[in-house]
Amino acid sequence: MQFQTIGIPKMRSYSYLKELDADSLTLHESDVPRPGPGQVLVRLKAASLNYRDLLIITGRYPGMKSQGLVPVSDGAGVVAEVGAGVTRFSAGDRVTGCFFETWLSGPMLPAHYNHALGGSVPGVLAEYRVFPEQALVATPAHLSDEEASTLPCAALTAWNGLFEGKQVTPGETVLVLGTGGVSMFALQFAKAAGAVVIATSSSDAKLAQAKAMGADHLINYKEHPDWDKNVREITGGVGVDHVVEVGGPGTLQRSISAARHGGSVHLIGVLTGGEINPLPILFNTTTVRGVFVGSRDMFEAMNRLINARQIKPAIDRVFGFSESREALRHLEGATHFGKVVIRIE
Ligand SMILES: NC(=O)c1ccc[n+]([C@@H]2O[C@H](COP(=O)([O-])OP(=O)(O)OC[C@H]3O[C@@H](n4cnc5c(N)ncnc54)[C@H](OP(=O)(O)O)[C@@H]3O)[C@@H](O)[C@H]2O)c1
Repeated sequence: MQFQTIGIPKMRSYSYLKELDADSLTLHESDVPRPGPGQVLVRLKAASLNYRDLLIITGRYPGMKSQGLVPVSDGAGVVAEVGAGVTRFSAGDRVTGCFFETWLSGPMLPAHYNHALGGSVPGVLAEYRVFPEQALVATPAHLSDEEASTLPCAALTAWNGLFEGKQVTPGETVLVLGTGGVSMFALQFAKAAGAVVIATSSSDAKLAQAKAMGADHLINYKEHPDWDKNVREITGGVGVDHVVEVGGPGTLQRSISAARHGGSVHLIGVLTGGEINPLPILFNTTTVRGVFVGSRDMFEAMNRLINARQIKPAIDRVFGFSESREALRHLEGATHFGKVVIRIE
């Protein structure tokens, strides 16, 4: 199918008019772009939000400016037209975008930071976007576009943490903190790998949801502020093999203390502030590994697991395209369980 047959010469997209002003998120009309050689025009059908989107608009994400930015990194849709020489996809294919346009395989390099969607390059809160063909993956057939839109950042980060460093193996114990997007993917992937999962949350209702998704042990971290001790009790005093650390400085000390001697802390998030004492890291010979989303190869490896186990993301709520501001506010309120999605009608 060629673009001319679609007959939609104009498209809508969001961008921030002013720096650090969430209320300046505004809808614009512009021409639908055409794909050049090696590029693919995607009709985006859904986008999902990440905590990062809030960090960027509040000026807490290093090196990113929100003014003029088409926000949001994670989107999925359908190929509308391909440019010359494209071989990976054809019109009509269902595709999901990669978080980094240039990180295809191998280790993360600093240059990829300049190609992160919704931060250093335009994001996906738009009806159409042109992608390099290399920066797209096929959408798992059992997932809707709304479900697939949750994969590029939150799911891939959880995957990278658990499988691309010191891999989780069957029978090991994994601690996931809170019930946000990354943590709920980590819960599902850890269970798929045969691990025992301990989940924490500020809410008993959310813990019940985590249990329904397979969590083996539950801790309310508001009722048990020294939750690392609860983790040690649950593990017979040993500690867990892996911590999916999304809390940042305010939780890291307890995460290190909750890990077994020689265990792994996968350092992902910055939800809280604080200071840490590094000495327990060396006394416990803990591996603390920084995790930064993931490459396209990792994305495709993750999708093999998602396909094989027919994994479905936990979606809290789907907002309409015209409700994008409300969706961001909903994420900010942190009452969600799993992912917040915007349908791009
Ligand atoms: N390194 C990377 O590549 C990467 C990728 C993705 C995300 N991140 C970061 O990872 C973090 C999580 O991202 P996300 O998108 O999953 O966020 P999210 O969906 O907004 O998750 C927020 C949830 O985190 C939990 N939480 C907040 N404070 C907590 C605390 N002190 N202890 C335990 N849990 C706490 C809460 O769960 P309850 O309501 O259940 O208490 C809250 O609902 C963010 O800092 C984000 O920037 C990093």
